Amino acid sequence: MAELHTPLCDRLGIRLPLIQAPMPSASTPELVAAVSHAGALGSFGSAYTQPETMLREAEAVRARTHAPFNVNLFVAKQPPAIDAAAQRGALDAVAGYYQELGLPPPEPVRPPYAPDLEAQLRAVEQIRPAVFTFHLGDMPQERVRRIQALGVKVGGSANCIAEARNLEALGVDFIVAQGAEAGGHRGSYLRNPYDSMTGTLALVRLIVRSVKIPVVAAGGIMDGAGIAAALALGAQAAWLGTAFIPCPESGSPRAHKESVLNSKEDATLVTEQFSGKPARAIANRFMREMHERAAPQLDFPAQNTLTGKLRAAAAKAGNPDFVAMYAGQGAPLSRALPAAELVAALEAETLEALDRLAALRG
Ligand SMILES: Cc1cc2nc3c(=O)[nH]c(=O)nc-3n(C[C@H](O)[C@H](O)[C@H](O)COP(=O)(O)O)c2cc1C
Repeated sequence: MAELHTPLCDRLGIRLPLIQAPMPSASTPELVAAVSHAGALGSFGSAYTQPETMLREAEAVRARTHAPFNVNLFVAKQPPAIDAAAQRGALDAVAGYYQELGLPPPEPVRPPYAPDLEAQLRAVEQIRPAVFTFHLGDMPQERVRRIQALGVKVGGSANCIAEARNLEALGVDFIVAQGAEAGGHRGSYLRNPYDSMTGTLALVRLIVRSVKIPVVAAGGIMDGAGIAAALALGAQAAWLGTAFIPCPESGSPRAHKESVLNSKEDATLVTEQFSGKPARAIANRFMREMHERAAPQLDFPAQNTLTGKLRAAAAKAGNPDFVAMYAGQGAPLSRALPAAELVAALEAETLEALDRLAALRG
């Protein structure tokens, strides 16, 4: 079979220009190992993971494969302590749902709202994955350099040219250009996220032409035709999240997997209601009602903690009404394949798509 290869593949030590996007509940060690072993790059979404669990999960991958993998963190600033009035409004807004699911009333959310980023970064330095990526912000240059000095390649996500240029100036090895179609949180950190909704097709091309370092395309890519399109735009790899949610190795709740598999065109909306930051998800009752009521919410990531028990109880009950079903606009193109089979299918489809394009030349 012909080979699919870009210079970034060599730099990251992967056979295929294909990266499974980091997704906190989906990215189990089983998923990461299966994707990486199949020649793509598996990624941990470790944003909400405590450092000791990060270490354990990395070991679990290394027990299964010697292939490279990526560890991903959120680097957004934590909000200051939230005052009692804001707490009350946000708690009241979800109290009825807590009651409906048979949960005790929600309690005020206290800092720290997320695992300590510094401790998570130390865990990354201990793990020394082949790749480290960050989302929702930038990082001090000396920290990027320190991680790179351990032999780790570093990437960051951008929703606009200014963010891509800022990351390039920090010295990252590659940029993930996240188009508006993408599932999950918008990576915006320099501009209002709602002003940075350029689609993948335009964004990848704009960023490829604005920076000198490799660009990875993310958002709405679900099959080999999409990967071939990303490569044609000048991306050196495609970064797929939603496509991997239904894999049996993925830890996403059943309701999330089924909703992705059965989704229709226009099923997704950008919502802040689950976490306090805009993210694309399959629209459900919680999103619709909270939006209609303009319900008060806490700042990110405190809102994520506030909705945590609700989301967990709904996931356990197989109730999609309150699960954060983050997914991109390409969700209707998803399929339930084991990760290695999905990677193989994506490889074969990309080669076919490139052949079809070559045949157009007559
Ligand atoms: C369920 C889910 C969780 C996500 N969590 C993260 C994350 O923790 N870190 C991150 O960098 N990106 C995260 N993303 C965004 C992806 O990195 C990527 O931009 C997106 O999946 C690409 O669009 P697609 O889902 O249409 O393939 C998440 C996406 C999804 C669908």
